[in-house]
Amino acid sequence: MHLSRLYTLKCGAKNWASVKHFGDEPLNNLLGSLLFMAVVSSPAAANMPEGNSELGMQKAYTCQFCHGATGISPRDDYPNMNGQNAEYLFDAMMAYKEGNRDGAMGRLMKQQMSVLNTQDMADIATYYAEQSR
Ligand code: HEC
Repeated sequence: MHLSRLYTLKCGAKNWASVKHFGDEPLNNLLGSLLFMAVVSSPAAANMPEGNSELGMQKAYTCQFCHGATGISPRDDYPNMNGQNAEYLFDAMMAYKEGNRDGAMGRLMKQQMSVLNTQDMADIATYYAEQSR
């Protein structure tokens, strides 16, 4: 999960708590927290540059050993990526790169992401998103 999303969830929870405790204007508080969540969560998706799937296919060369050439993983414990939302894939890659998805497999992916820039990740995300399920 991308850091800004985590942050949004936390702030959302905080606002919910205040709806409970200081309930004189619950609707305003609720609208405020929804607005706040919308504002804070939009940059993650907006950060994704337009991807080029032709280039993405070439750049995904090293990924296919684990994720398959068209995003269908040869192993049950590695995730499929075919037909997934491009922005989701992009956010996931950013999260690995920034160390926000942890665990042994997360560190493995962080290593994979270390050689990719933002445009590479957008291209690859676009390529896998376009593959049929
Ligand atoms: C050595 C095997 C391996 C290679 C190579 C590899 N990955 Fe992964 N990838 C994994 C594993 C395992 C996970 C699940 C990690 C976890 O538990 O978070 C993963 C997760 C992902 C996810 C998150 C999927 C989801 O549904 O949340 C994305 C996106 C991703 N990889 C993209 C890539 C890209 C792009 C490349 C090539 C640049 C790549 N991977 C190379 C093994 C690999």
